Amino acid sequence: MRRSLACALAYTWLGCSAATPHAPTSGVVQTDAEPAAPWSDAWLLEQGQVFLHDDAARRQALEQSLSNPENLYSRQRLNSYGRVQYGWDLLPEWNPRSRQVDAVLARSLELDEMPEVSREQAPLWDGQTPTTVAEWVALGERVFFEFPMRAEVFAEFALTRPELARAVGLERTSDGAVPGLVVFADVDGSSRVGITCALCHSAVHDGQLVVGAARRRFDYGRLRLAFFDEFDVTVEPNMARRLASWGPGRADVTEDDDEDPVSIPDLWGLRSQRWLTQAGTIRHQSPLALAIRQETQLTDSNHLKVRPPRELAWALAMFVYSLEPRARQQLPVTTELDRGRTLFASECQGCHANAAYGGAPLAAELIGTDPSLATGRGRGTGSYRVPSLLAVGVGAPYLHDGSIASLEELLSPNRLAPSYVSGLLGPGALTGHEAGTQLSLSDRRALLAFLDTL
Ligand code: HEC
Ligand code: HEC
Repeated sequence: MRRSLACALAYTWLGCSAATPHAPTSGVVQTDAEPAAPWSDAWLLEQGQVFLHDDAARRQALEQSLSNPENLYSRQRLNSYGRVQYGWDLLPEWNPRSRQVDAVLARSLELDEMPEVSREQAPLWDGQTPTTVAEWVALGERVFFEFPMRAEVFAEFALTRPELARAVGLERTSDGAVPGLVVFADVDGSSRVGITCALCHSAVHDGQLVVGAARRRFDYGRLRLAFFDEFDVTVEPNMARRLASWGPGRADVTEDDDEDPVSIPDLWGLRSQRWLTQAGTIRHQSPLALAIRQETQLTDSNHLKVRPPRELAWALAMFVYSLEPRARQQLPVTTELDRGRTLFASECQGCHANAAYGGAPLAAELIGTDPSLATGRGRGTGSYRVPSLLAVGVGAPYLHDGSIASLEELLSPNRLAPSYVSGLLGPGALTGHEAGTQLSLSDRRALLAFLDTL
C-alpha cells in the first residue's frame, strides 16, 4: 500500500509499472488510504503538496522528466534545479507588482511615457496558499497574464509605433488592451514593460481573446530587427538573416547557434500528452514535470536574478491544464464525415493515439520532417512528439517548424515534388509526415472534413 500511494502521489498516472526503476522515496506521510484517481481534484491537491514541500521528490521528478539529459536544456536544469544547498533554490523569491497593459496604459506608452507602478500596489500574490483546484487555477490565470517573464525593450519600443505593433502581432482586444504585456516594478524597483505567457499563448480571434491559442501572428524576429534598425544597432549579417527567416508564429528560443526555430503550440489537451514541447524534451509523467518546466522557465527567462514563489509555478501548471479550445461548430454527421473518421482510424490513429489525438515521440528520421530541432543541442532528443490535434482545423501553420500552411497541403502529394514552389518557408519539396498523401482526392476530402471536427 505504501508503495502504491507513493507512486500515485508523486510520479505517474500510468501506474507504478510504468514508473522508473527507482522506487520513489517521497518524504510525504504515508497512510493506508486508497490513492486518489489521477486528475481528480484530490490527486491534484496531493501532487501540489509534494511539489511544494518535498525537495527530494522535486529533484527526482526533474531528473525523470528530462528525455535527453545531455541537451543544453537538461544540463542547465540538472546543474541548478532542486539542489537545495546551492543553485536556483537559493535565489530570492520574487512576487512582482505588475499591471496589465490596458487601453490607458497603452496610450501612455505610445507617448513614450513610462507609467509608475505605485509602491502601494499589492503584489501579484497575497501569500495565501489555495486550498481547492479552482483557487489554484484562478491564481494561475493571474500568473499567466501578469507575471513578467522579463523586461522587454523590444515590446516597449513597438508600443510607441502602433503600426509596427500591429504588424508584429502585438494584438489588441476590442477594449484596447494588449494581452501579454505588463508594466511592472522590476527587481531593481524601476518601472519597465514586460512580457508574460499570454504574449505567445493567447490570440485575438474576431476581437475576442482565446486563451491558450498560439499567437501565430507574433513575429519576434521582425520586431527585434525593427528595433535594431531604429537605434542603429549593428546586427551581424548572419543573425539578421536568421531573425528575418523566423516569420510569424516562430522563434528560435534556445541560446545556442543551431538554426532551429520552433512554432508556438496551442496549449490544448496537455493532460493527455506524455511528452511536452515539439521535440518531446520533457517527459510529462506527472504534473510536477509541468510545474518544474514553468518554475525553471520563469527563473531562466528573468536572467537567473530571482525565482517565482513555488506556489505560482504550481498555479500556472494548474491553469495550463484547464485550458480548452473554443467549442467547434457541430456539423451534421454525413457519410463523408463517417468515412473520414474511419480513414483517420486506419491512417493516423496509430500515432495520434491518445485522447487529445497526440502520442509518443517518433525518431526524426522516421517522420522525415526537418530534423534540425530534434537533433539540435538545445532541446534535441532525436525525436518529435506527436502533437495534439484538438482544434487542428484552426491551428495552421502545421508541424514543429510551421512549414505547412494548411491541412490540404499536409495531405497533398504535390508538396513532395522537388518542383513545389508554394511552401511557406520557400520553394522546394516539403517532405516528411507523408501519411495520407497517398489517398485519393475524395478520401482526403473526407479526412479533412473529419479533422475539422476535432
Ligand atoms: C516568446 C513566446 C513565448 C512565451 C512568452 C511563452 N511561450 Fe510557451 N512556448 C513557446 C514556444 C515557441 C514553444 C515551443 C517550444 C518547443 O517546442 O521547444 C512553447 C511551448 C510551451 C509549452 C509546451 C506545450 C506543448 O505542447 O508541449 C507550454 C506548456 C508552454 N509553452 C507554456 C508557457 C507558459 C506557462 C508561459 C509563461 C510562463 C510561456 N509558455 C511563455 C513560446 C512562448
Ligand atoms: C507515423 C506516425 C504518424 C502518423 C501515421 C501520422 N502522424 Fe501526424 N504527426 C506525427 C508527428 C511525429 C508529427 C509532428 C512532426 C513534426 O512536427 O515534425 C505529426 C504532426 C501532425 C500534424 C501537425 C499538427 C500541428 O499542430 O502542427 C497534423 C495536422 C497531423 N500530424 C495529422 C495527421 C493525419 C491527418 C494523419 C493521417 C493521415 C497523421 N497525422 C498520421 C506522427 C504521425
